[in-house]
Amino acid sequence: MIRYERFFKLEANEEKSRLMMNAFGFLMHEKEKGISGYYNLPIDGENLLKEINSYIIQEDEVYQNAENIVVIGIGGSSLGAKAIDSMLRHKYNNLKKLLFLENPDPVSISKTLNRIKKHNSIFVVISKSGGTIETTSIFKTVLKEFDMDLKSEDAKRVLIISDEGSPLCKFADFYGIKAFTIPKNVGGRFSVLSSVGIVPLSLAGYDMRNVLKGAKHMIKRFFNSKEEHIAIKALYYCKNYQKTPINVLFSYADFLEDFTKWFIQLWAESLGKIDKDGKNVGLTPVAHIGSIDQHSFLQLIMQGPRDKTVTFIKVEDFENDLKIPDISLKYIEKTDYINNHTFNELINAECDATKESLVKEGIPVDTITLDKVNEENVGELIAYFELLTSYAGAIFDINTYDQPGVEFGKKILVKKFKGN
Ligand code: PA5
Repeated sequence: MIRYERFFKLEANEEKSRLMMNAFGFLMHEKEKGISGYYNLPIDGENLLKEINSYIIQEDEVYQNAENIVVIGIGGSSLGAKAIDSMLRHKYNNLKKLLFLENPDPVSISKTLNRIKKHNSIFVVISKSGGTIETTSIFKTVLKEFDMDLKSEDAKRVLIISDEGSPLCKFADFYGIKAFTIPKNVGGRFSVLSSVGIVPLSLAGYDMRNVLKGAKHMIKRFFNSKEEHIAIKALYYCKNYQKTPINVLFSYADFLEDFTKWFIQLWAESLGKIDKDGKNVGLTPVAHIGSIDQHSFLQLIMQGPRDKTVTFIKVEDFENDLKIPDISLKYIEKTDYINNHTFNELINAECDATKESLVKEGIPVDTITLDKVNEENVGELIAYFELLTSYAGAIFDINTYDQPGVEFGKKILVKKFKGN
């Protein structure tokens, strides 16, 4: 269960009601016409899980011997799986390792390659477009490092995840490598609940059925108009984007750090656009971990420019009863008030205290409280942020799903290697 609370007001008026109705209608249209396909991923997931299961049965030996599932992908092709892995890993005992080869950083690539062997790894190459330079370069490096011959049995330890008909899918077809496709109408950063996230996470051993279930319920409730808080928050953010252009996500759990990176990509790449009137619009995501960043960034929020909103994510029950021991230390007795309390109590009280202090300052704050971390809550949280992003995009009247701005740099990069 997740609770959503808002500590700021959106004064209702006719214009706002009209904007909200239009945006809701727009999202409904996107869903029904298949303009954006992520709304249906939790339903389509059942077939995908069957396909993954057939692969596991067919490649039983390779699968049983694999200790590492190595994801080769970047951006929307890696951040979602990484986020879910970080959030849920501590709840499982028998998972395969999930490793990510994302950045063309020679030090981290070498470090990861040194940790694995060919015979105990499955390499999952993920790229929606099927030609991303970082991903293909790292894949080539893996093939060379492990002396892999794709015309041999080695092909069985490679999986491709890409759009149907993409260069990578054609490559898979050529070598008879198993390929899972991504629906064409699902954009990279909205693809975590497609094969992009479901395949590597299922292979690692996660129960993805319940993640999909959590997302499905959220999307269903949203389209049944039962999650109005999403609309109100999106509208508040968009209406005030010049006054409060920075949205801080303050998550009180270390295992949420990768989730906040996934959120940053989703929010920034989807909403930073040129609108239909030629105006640059967007909202700037910033992510922090509590209580660590109370000792750094919080000062700026409290007393710096009033240009931020803050969303707290809190986990009510960490299912861990580690306590602060009842020890009184000479000269630091003033900290004894916390003795015998759990760390779970401490971190949440810190979250509440920070929230209260910001609310008192009149800073727009909302909280998202997970009763605990489990698969369903993770699925719901993902769907919540995706819907919030789509809603904000509809209010801005932009294309939420493209990213023309990043293409310019890619063209310059090609010129740097190939010349004009
Ligand atoms: O959201 C997006 O579409 C992008 O950020 C992509 O995920 C990223 O560029 C990786 O692209 P690809 O999956 O095509 O390799």
